[in-house]
Amino acid sequence: LGSNPHCGRIALIGPMGSGKTTVGQRLAAALGRPFVDLDAWIVAHAGLSIPEIFAKQGEAAFRRLELEALVSVAQDDALCGCVCATGGGVVETAACRAQLSRDWTVIELRATVATLAAHLAGETAGRPMFRDAVSVERRILELYERRKSLYDEVAQFRVSIDGRTPEEVVHVIARHL
Ligand code: S3P
Repeated sequence: LGSNPHCGRIALIGPMGSGKTTVGQRLAAALGRPFVDLDAWIVAHAGLSIPEIFAKQGEAAFRRLELEALVSVAQDDALCGCVCATGGGVVETAACRAQLSRDWTVIELRATVATLAAHLAGETAGRPMFRDAVSVERRILELYERRKSLYDEVAQFRVSIDGRTPEEVVHVIARHL
């Protein structure tokens, strides 16, 4: 860790429902590292829920908070070597992509639309990106089409979660690190 210029900070990226938080928590535990959930960090610092931030300040403001969170976590010595679960849209901000490429080992979690939709069943209400969606599957696909190349741009390693338990995903990642 000491010789690593970014002290081995690991960011998990990927669509909503790909298990970034679950896998991130377990990966951090397996590696004995701190865990940070970027959405939770933003909520704690803003004092507002994610839907409230979107409703009161708009998506652009949320994206700025996301960048602020990412930079703060990367600069926090106490979080050296942390595993961070990002939000699905973090790659939409060029400055976030630059920050991820520069200071993080970036791992992308991948899944089929069916897997993502199954994971998100009953959980779309708290996610503003599903507001006004005609169907959950269609919105998942729209977001993925828009973000696919951006995930690709920053990811150093990709792992499919289809048919794998979180423990198996952690195992694949840990082997690769
Ligand atoms: C978003 C994903 C969410 C959260 C916010 C916006 C997105 O995070 O950051 O609702 O734009 O895809 P998760 O991927 O953890 O659900």
